[in-house]
Amino acid sequence: MIQRRLYHPKVIDHYTHPRNVGSLDKKALNVGTGLVGAPACGDVMRLQIQVNDDTGIIENVKFKTFGCGSAIASSSYMTEMVKGMSVNDAFLIKNTQIAKELSLPPVKLHCSMLAEDAIKAAINDYKSKRTTKTVLT
Ligand code: FES
Ligand code: FES
Repeated sequence: MIQRRLYHPKVIDHYTHPRNVGSLDKKALNVGTGLVGAPACGDVMRLQIQVNDDTGIIENVKFKTFGCGSAIASSSYMTEMVKGMSVNDAFLIKNTQIAKELSLPPVKLHCSMLAEDAIKAAINDYKSKRTTKTVLT
C-alpha cells in the first residue's frame, strides 16, 4: 500500500496510471529486451525497446514490473523519458535523474537503479542482435 504522505504526487500518478505497460515481440530484430532484478528485495523489471535501425531512435517502449510502487513509477517514468531518444543518449540515463524527478526517499533509490539497469540491458540486447544481424547479412 503506497503511503500518500510519504510519496511525491508524480510517484502516485505513475504508480496508479503506469504508462506503456505491456510487451513487444522479443524475437523481432529491432526489439531489445532487458530483464533485471534488484538484489536488495527481489523485485523484477522487464523493459523492451523498439528501435529504428536507420536512425537509432527508440520508437516504442513497453515494460512490466513485478515490484514496489517506486519501481513501477520509475519504470513508467523511464519509458516516457526514452521514447524518441537515441539509444546512445538513453544509455547515459542515470538512476539519480529518475530518483530526483520522482523525489524518491533514500531507501527507495535502488528502485530507480532497477530502471537504469533495465534500459541498459535492453539496449545491450538490441545492440547484440544488431551485430548478429550484420554478420548474417
Ligand atoms: Fe516488496 Fe519491493 S520489496 S515489493
Ligand atoms: Fe525493491 Fe522497490 S523496494 S525495487
